[in-house]
Formats: sequence, structure tokens, C-alpha cells
Amino acid sequence: MHLYLDSASLDDVKKAHDLGVLDGVTTNPSLIAKEGVPYAKRLEEICRVCKGPVSAEVIATDYEGMLREGREHIKIASNIVVKLPSTIDGVRACKALADQGVKTNMTLCFQSLQALMVAKAGAFLVSPFIGRLDDIGQDGMGLIREIKTIYTNYGLKTKILAASVRHTNHLLHCALLGADVATCPLKVITDCMKHPLTDKGIEIFLADYKKAFGGQ
Ligand code: G3P
Repeated sequence: MHLYLDSASLDDVKKAHDLGVLDGVTTNPSLIAKEGVPYAKRLEEICRVCKGPVSAEVIATDYEGMLREGREHIKIASNIVVKLPSTIDGVRACKALADQGVKTNMTLCFQSLQALMVAKAGAFLVSPFIGRLDDIGQDGMGLIREIKTIYTNYGLKTKILAASVRHTNHLLHCALLGADVATCPLKVITDCMKHPLTDKGIEIFLADYKKAFGGQ
């Protein structure tokens, strides 16, 4: 499973990149708003660090506006993926951009039929939002399972990018269900390498070594 960082923080991108596990980055208008820098500038900075796909979301909600913004975004770097909402206008824009060889990430996917439609329109990635479905008492992981089944049934090539990942349990189940990619905040990535028994084990090994040989 590929692992993307869901952040517009350059520091976080550098930290995830330094871990050696970063395959790509996703951003959105809320994440960039927290940074207080122009979107294009930050995308350019991120693309200098991460050579994998970097999703740049459009603000426009109409077809023409999405195409206009998407075409601006792809000028920033060759690894930019245009992120579009999974709406009627979004699916049209996805098809138009895909026909021109532009990669798209269809975001805000909350039902599997949206995922079927965007795959038919040639999306590179679809982003089902797990956490936000869980927030309203629905089954986020169930959505990943349904999309996986539909894409497998018909050999659809769009990659499932599990988004709105809030904790390691989400990440674990994405991997078990066969999501192609998961995007998550830096904390979820670093939490994967934490376990109290790992810390305790290190403590015991060091204490035993010290007892036998003394010093460091
Ligand atoms: O980037 C889209 C998605 O991952 C947002 O997650 O936690 O705001 O629901 P969240």
C-alpha cells in the first residue's frame, strides 16, 4: 500500500520524506488555509521535496472553473494531480482532464457509486473519506470494501486512496482491505512505529547489557 501525507505543512512533508516511507502528498483548501501561504507557492515547495503524486485541489465548483484551475495547477510541477470534488461538474471535469492526459484525484467520495462514476470518467485516484463517515455513525471502512469489490468486479484502473484517516486502526484496515493508497496526517504515520512493548523491550535489553558489561 502506498502512503501519502495529508498535509500542506512543508515541515511535515520533510519529516515524512526523511522517514523514507513517503509516496505522495495530498492537500486541500482547509489544510492550506492553516499554513497562511499562497497555495501555488506551497505546492511548488512540496513538489521539490516529494517526487510522488502531489494532489492540488480546485476551489471552483463549476466545470469551467475546475478546468481553468486544474490547468493552472499542473503548470507547477510534473507530479501535480488535480483534485476535484466528486460532483456532476467534477466528474465532467475529470473526463475532460483525463482525455488530455491529466491525472485527477476525485475527492469527497462518500458512496461507492461516486467511485464507479469517476472511475468510468478516467480518474487516476478516488478519495473515499473514512473518518467523516464514521463521524456521522456510518461505516467508513465499509465504503473502502464496496469500492474495492466494484473495481475488482470490472477491472477498473482507478486507485483507491483512503482519505480522512484518523488513526492507525483505520490504516491497518485499509491495508487489510487492499486500498491502493492511504493518506494520513504525520501523527498516524509515526504512530505506526510505536508500541509500549517495543519501548519496554529496548529498556530491558539495555539494562541487561549494562548489568553484564557495565557503562554504555
Ligand atoms: O484531504 C482529505 C481528507 O483526508 C481530510 O481528512 O480528517 O479532515 O476528515 P479529515
